[in-house]
Parts: sequence; structure tokens; C-alpha cells
Amino acid sequence: MTEGLFTAWTQKDVTLKNRIVMSPMCMYSVENEDGHVTDWHMTHYTSRAVGQVGLIMIEATAVTEQGRISTNDLGIYQDEHVEGLQQLSSSMQKQGAKTAIQLAHAGRKAVVDGDIIAPSAIPFYDDSKVPKEMTKAEIEETIEAFKQGARRAKEAGFDIIEIHAAHGYLLSQFLSPLANHRNDEYGGSAENRYRIVKETIQAVHSVWDGPLFVRVSADEYHPEGNELSDVVQFATWMKQDGVDLIDCSSGGVVRTPIDVYPGYQLRHAETIKREADISTGAVGLITSGLQAEEIIKNERADLVFLGRELLRNPYWPRAAAEELGVDLQPPKQYERGW
Ligand code: FNR
Repeated sequence: MTEGLFTAWTQKDVTLKNRIVMSPMCMYSVENEDGHVTDWHMTHYTSRAVGQVGLIMIEATAVTEQGRISTNDLGIYQDEHVEGLQQLSSSMQKQGAKTAIQLAHAGRKAVVDGDIIAPSAIPFYDDSKVPKEMTKAEIEETIEAFKQGARRAKEAGFDIIEIHAAHGYLLSQFLSPLANHRNDEYGGSAENRYRIVKETIQAVHSVWDGPLFVRVSADEYHPEGNELSDVVQFATWMKQDGVDLIDCSSGGVVRTPIDVYPGYQLRHAETIKREADISTGAVGLITSGLQAEEIIKNERADLVFLGRELLRNPYWPRAAAEELGVDLQPPKQYERGW
């Protein structure tokens, strides 16, 4: 029998009980702009663990204060953030889920007071704040911030780390010829544009030996932007650099329409898996158990990430199991009423 949606998946010493991943989704629910976990995060994420999601990835969590998408983002830029994140991770794990955190820096898409930074001084769109072109010292500080974020994620007990290099945030900006016009070793050729990502992966590896995912924008939907073949090359390098899975999203570097339909990013996951010979996660309008099962069984991706569907239904895995005729035990507290 080929593996399906409810087959376990092991990477390094972490075993997910199924292939269902909650895709990272910002909740903009931090109070007092201090980056700390709140009751909302505890309730929201833990309910998906009760719902039998195999891996819950918490939202884009900022590695620096100025790298926040908004001032209501979660942060991992101070040691004081660890305690709340540890409670959150442990609360989900107690209900049988494995946990992941997405480490992020928004770059030119940060909406915070003060200066924002990016590979080049090019705003996201016409009326956005103009970012400061990063100096080499700022590049080094940012890589160090990802490393410190990874160290804190480990202290908080997360099972998996994902580096956010998609959607036009900082690392995605470096990868893209649309946002990166640098003339030094961090700009120009694909190899140069990849350099900060490589150094970030290496820095994270120096403090983290668990599974490492990277989310990419596999197509920028712009004639001068990266397309799938460019991202296959990045994924090949990521594999050489010790990344375990590529989480295949798209877009977000510039404002451009995206043709959205069921499984619209699936071919990215499938192509990168085949051509870069690395595990992939598929994401984007995956909504039914049958659709998810088809993706896994046909080996088009190794994991399915669900976003909005898991907002609508925290118990989606149970509905998928029913659809597929898989026997999923209820939480023991519900057994007498089953
Ligand atoms: C998102 N998405 C997202 N992606 C990411 O990499 N980091 C993030 O923090 C967020 N935040 C976020 C918030 C909200 C409210 C939504 C709806 C989406 C994108 C998300 O992870 C996913 O890739 C897309 O929503 C597509 O998948 P679905 O929703 O079609 O299953």
C-alpha cells in the first residue's frame, strides 16, 4: 500500500502521526505590541491539536522588532518571549500534535515605526515606506537574529523550525531580482541572491539539529521575477545545505494578480520534489480529504498544509478521516458519547 494522508511521516527524530499540517497564519493578536503569546494563541492553536492535526506551525514570528509584519505579531527576538512560546508548544504537544514555528523577518513589508530595512531601497509599492538598503553589518545582524530565534525556538520545545523565505518578506526579497538590486556579493546572480539564505540556514544549523523547513515563493508571477525553474535551483542548494523540506507557496513579492483555484500551487510542490529531489509540502486551496489523499498517494508532495480550511474547521482531520473511511479515535474524554 502506498502511503496516504493518515500515514505517519518521520524526519530526523520527529514523527508526525499524519500528513496534515496547519499552515502558518498570522493572528495579529499580540497585545501591547510586545510580541508575547496571549490566551488567543493558546486556545486557537491547541484546539487544532485536539482536532488531530499532525503538525501545527505557528504563525510568522519575528526575529527582530523592526522585522515584524505588524506590531501585533508574535516575536522571538527576546529571551523573555521563550516562556509563552514554551507554554504554547507544550499545550499543543500534550494533545498529541507536533509543533513548528515559522521564523520571519518582514524586510520592506514591515509595518512598524522607525526605519525598515531591505536588500535595496525599493518600496513594496508606490505608497509604501521606502526601506533602507541593508549594510553588510545589518545583513550579519539579521542572520544572527535568525540564529538566536532558532536557539529560543529550541528552548521553547518546538519540534520543527521553518524559515520564512516566501511572500516577499526579507529573505524572499533577497532571492528576487525584483526587490534585490544590490551590486555586492548578496545581489546579482542567483547564487549571490541566495547567499543570505544559505548563511541563515548555516547559522540556524549551528544551534538546531531538528528538522528544518523553508517556505518559498515558487513563482513570483512577474516576467522579471523568479519562476519555478529558478526556485528548483534554490531548492537544490537548500537540500545541499541541509534543509529537510520545501514548503511551496507563491507570490507576494510584488502586487500582481494570482489565478487561484483548487490546488493552484500543487505543481510547484510536485516539480520541486521531483527535480530537486527533496521532500515538499503542498499548500493552497486544499480543502477535502480526497484531494489531500490524492496528493500524498500519488507522491506529489510529502505533506499537505491547510490554511483557511483549518480556520473554518479545527476538526478538519476528523472530517477527512470520515471521508476516507479511516478510523480516527476520538479524544478519550469524548469516548462515552461517541
Ligand atoms: C496566511 N498565510 C501565511 N503564510 C505564511 O507563510 N506565514 C504567515 O504568517 C501567514 N499568515 C496568514 C494569515 C492568514 C489569516 C491567512 C489566511 C493566510 C498564508 C497561508 O499559510 C497559506 O499559505 C494560504 O492561506 C493558502 O492556503 P489555504 O488557506 O488556501 O489553505
